[in-house]
Amino acid sequence: MLTRWYRTGVFYSLDVGLFQDTNGDGVGDFQGLMERLDYLGRLGVSTLWLNPMYPSPRRDGGYDICDYYHVHQRLGSLGDFALMMHEAGERGIRVMLDLVVNHTSDQHPWFQSARSDPNSPYRDWYVWSETEPPDRFEGMVFPGVENEIWTYDEVAHAWYRHRFYRFEPDLNTDNPAVQEEIHKIAMFWIDLGVSGFRVDAAPFLIEPRHGPDKRPRYEFLRELRESMSWHRGDSVMLAEANVSDEELREYFGQADGTATRVLMVFAFRLNQALILALAREDARPVAATLRELPDLPRYGQWATFLRNHDEVDLGRLTEEERQEVARAFAPDPDMWAYGRGIRRRLAPILHGDRRRIELAYSLQMSMPGTPVIRYGEELGMGDRLDLPEREAIRTPMQWDHTPGAGFSSADPRAFTAPLVEDGPYSYKIVNVTDERLDPNSLLTWFERTLHALRECEEIGTGDHEIIDGGPPGVMVHQATGRTGTTLFVHNLANQPCRLKLGDLHDPVQEPLSFVADSDYGNGVDLDALDVAGYGYRWIRLRRMVGQ
Ligand code: GLC
Ligand code: CA
Repeated sequence: MLTRWYRTGVFYSLDVGLFQDTNGDGVGDFQGLMERLDYLGRLGVSTLWLNPMYPSPRRDGGYDICDYYHVHQRLGSLGDFALMMHEAGERGIRVMLDLVVNHTSDQHPWFQSARSDPNSPYRDWYVWSETEPPDRFEGMVFPGVENEIWTYDEVAHAWYRHRFYRFEPDLNTDNPAVQEEIHKIAMFWIDLGVSGFRVDAAPFLIEPRHGPDKRPRYEFLRELRESMSWHRGDSVMLAEANVSDEELREYFGQADGTATRVLMVFAFRLNQALILALAREDARPVAATLRELPDLPRYGQWATFLRNHDEVDLGRLTEEERQEVARAFAPDPDMWAYGRGIRRRLAPILHGDRRRIELAYSLQMSMPGTPVIRYGEELGMGDRLDLPEREAIRTPMQWDHTPGAGFSSADPRAFTAPLVEDGPYSYKIVNVTDERLDPNSLLTWFERTLHALRECEEIGTGDHEIIDGGPPGVMVHQATGRTGTTLFVHNLANQPCRLKLGDLHDPVQEPLSFVADSDYGNGVDLDALDVAGYGYRWIRLRRMVGQ
């Protein structure tokens, strides 16, 4: 069976406008991304997921789009985009885009036309009500910031629906013309060379807009997948779907055991279990969650993550569990957003404790699935809680310690978003150049560990088995695939421990330690396996070559 690209690589998400500016206007651009592709290649990244780079007023980080067939002019031209695609391809780096089609910006010409003329061909592209809808105050995605999902529009003389911000009217996805347009948008970018899409807000996108039947329209995902495959056989959809396990199965769909709809979904529940486990210093929430997660159909894949461009959404934990996480990691209410999540990067969540940052990322990388890393996490970047909502974690990439952080030569006051200037996460301390020169930096650790991961195909494509019997703070699991078997030990607690795992020993080959928090000496004794407090070890039990 051949490898499939999305099951063995490393995904890296970034916002082009925050990554690297080259023309001195304070906004990152495609030219800048192009110049940093070798940095990403060296880090071990195989696939980029770009946050929306379309024309947009950017009141929601660019998720409020006003033209699906262009790039934002501040980032460059469509030609610059094509050149960047080419350069990425030259380096074997794939690019995925955000497909944000649940809603548009209210500045989109479709909405402008729809609201200003009841006879506009675009009127029925949105969701209207002549009277005040009974569900006006139900199901807001950003409670506390947005208090209703219908807004009365003075121009249209009608109410329009918006599950997200009021400046993001929902598209009427019941309308076949809208469905067709979504296919067209996806094909446009596929034909420009992208390898697929992160499907933004997938559960909302497939939620019927009208009529009594409110069952999600999963088949829309299959239709879209079919169109995409027709244009590009190896293209992939990665769904943002923070839904129940039962529903998750439906996102993949299956026929004869093979996925028919999307091929990847974000492991939201695992993300919450990881955070809870780290807070409790107890591995059991992770083990329990892995056991409960549905088996995926053939070629289906989890996308694992610790941080993304949004808050750490803990909405699936109990109130008590959320309080536990709050006490350990985010005691100040200002660190929270929408009553459900932490609007911080991982390093500050873990109090800047290098041992625990490594532990957390080592654990993520060893989980079944493909790891997705947010830009700057490899440096241990921090955040700015003085910025509103999720803007706190959307500060420019920190390349060096000069004024402007190597991000831009513009006056920092003109930057698209302010730098983390002060404190332990300042660009003066946390930056690529300084970490590059330090063999013990987090960046060097990320490079080493991501390279180890990429030589360990069984993580992404193999079967994972949890090994019980150790202390509650320790997670022991192993992955077995065609390349061999690797054992992972993660100690989430501060007390060192010694494990007896001799039963796993394969007398044919010597176990070999190849990733660890510290030097445990030569040789691996599985009957007396030492792991430091907050320590971790990756041990190859069996290596298969020439299969
Ligand atoms: C998704 C994005 C989030 C955005 C929202 C509306 O949840 O991750 O950043 O605000 O969709 O598009
Ligand atoms: Ca620029």
